[in-house]
Amino acid sequence: MTKTYSRITGTGRCNPPKILTNFDLEKIVDTTDEWIRTRSGIEQRHVAEDMTTLDMCEEAAIKAMDAAGVTKDDIDAIFVGTTTPDQIFPNMGCLLQDRLDIHGCMALGMEAACTGFIYALAVADKFIRCGDIKTALVVGGERITNLLDWSDRATAVLFGDGAGAVILQASEEEGIISTHLHADGKYKDLLHYPAGVGKGLSTFQTDEAKIHMTGSEVFKTAVRQLGNVVVETLEANDMTNEDIDWLIPHQANLRIIQATAKKLKMPMERVIQTVQIHGNTSTASVPMALDVAIRDGRIKRGEMLLLEAFGGGFTWGSALVRY
Ligand code: ACO
Repeated sequence: MTKTYSRITGTGRCNPPKILTNFDLEKIVDTTDEWIRTRSGIEQRHVAEDMTTLDMCEEAAIKAMDAAGVTKDDIDAIFVGTTTPDQIFPNMGCLLQDRLDIHGCMALGMEAACTGFIYALAVADKFIRCGDIKTALVVGGERITNLLDWSDRATAVLFGDGAGAVILQASEEEGIISTHLHADGKYKDLLHYPAGVGKGLSTFQTDEAKIHMTGSEVFKTAVRQLGNVVVETLEANDMTNEDIDWLIPHQANLRIIQATAKKLKMPMERVIQTVQIHGNTSTASVPMALDVAIRDGRIKRGEMLLLEAFGGGFTWGSALVRY
């Protein structure tokens, strides 16, 4: 029996038009362009203004469908990774389904903070491999700036908005080779947005309604676990760093990206970097970076890609993909 893979047949992204530079931020909060660039690598980020998470997901999804040459009738499942849904329910998969005029297929919103897209990709891949579906739309979209306290310089300078999408299709050609997902809730207080409707709506009026981050601990754990997961991915597939053409990391901080590249012994020329221009777009960062490098011609068909992400939870994971 021939093996079924899921292949990435199209990608798309949405960068909302409004750009906020580090110099713009200097006017809002007590920071400097120099501090932000040297500590994080970030030079600018896009902010959503009048676009919602759903608007951005819709734009990314349409571009991915166009690139793959599929129509709405081909889509068997929709998975949307986000921590900033337009509504608590219906879930973002359903809202996107309605925007795209798709009816009846399964549609799910998935929340794993910055690792949400990798989780969604892994779930879609399993559904395709087992033969239940043939074509999936997988999106990571985030209006993460809505969760910021703009007076908190420790977090306000790091994040941006956007969405990225891929179409996954069943194929006998090699596609996603393996996915590796992890989480450890014991770290829940190091990076979190504590307000939630389950605890009572009044929390939204308090200090709980903003991102809380213990930056140095997040940094150390991200470096350690991303290093572990890339090694795990290579070992599971009996590969070395030489087999990887491109590392597409979560774009949180250039220094975290450099540390993971060093662990993999990957020169930075083979690492896709968009953190400078996008900031940290949370779950949207990996599919946005992937789309940038496919559309500018760096990533070519047949090349081996290693995608990885780390986020609140903590959650972390990777995907090894023959493009
Ligand atoms: N501008 C100027 N100074 C600042 C700013 C700012 N925006 N923010 C903090 N500082 C100051 C601090 O107050 C501190 O001053 P002090 O020494 O007088 O007390 C000093 O800069 C150093 O602060 P640190 O927090 O020690 O700086 P660090 O080198 O650790 O860098 C950073 C901070 C960039 C947040 C880093 O810890 C980091 O990147 N951590 C990981 C964050 C991350 O990746 N989060 C997201 C991952 S998961 C996800 O994507 C949701």
